[in-house]
Amino acid sequence: MTDLRQAALAVRERAYAPYSSFQVGAALRGASGAIYSGCNVENVAYPEGTCAEAGAIAAMIAAGETSFTEAYVVAGSPLPVTPCGGCRQKLAEFGAGDVLVTMSTVAGAEQTMSIADLLPGAFDPSFLGR
Ligand code: THU
Repeated sequence: MTDLRQAALAVRERAYAPYSSFQVGAALRGASGAIYSGCNVENVAYPEGTCAEAGAIAAMIAAGETSFTEAYVVAGSPLPVTPCGGCRQKLAEFGAGDVLVTMSTVAGAEQTMSIADLLPGAFDPSFLGR
């Protein structure tokens, strides 16, 4: 098992998902090589819940890193869990287009796609003239 899968599986165990019962774990490899992980954290006011990917990104930023080179997401779904639209945009903020995101199941099925393929036509800083 890779270190990223191990981290994502471990943090998934801590997911707070009493409303959906759908626990998700995410792990990022920062440019330094350090691994950052996060889980989904739901709320009784449903839209206030946060995804696992957002938690992993927050951990990376809090540690002082602003880019990652690889991502891994795992859930107990029958098919590899796919990041929601908002998380695709969040991943694109800190990962280059060729960065690979591996989506997986607890059972071990995996599917890997680049950030560019996950978010074609992304809104990016060029639209702001940056
Ligand atoms: N969820 C994630 O955390 N990441 C994904 O990639 C897909 C969905 C969470 C959000 C919510 O807590 C639960 O899964 C059900 O949608």
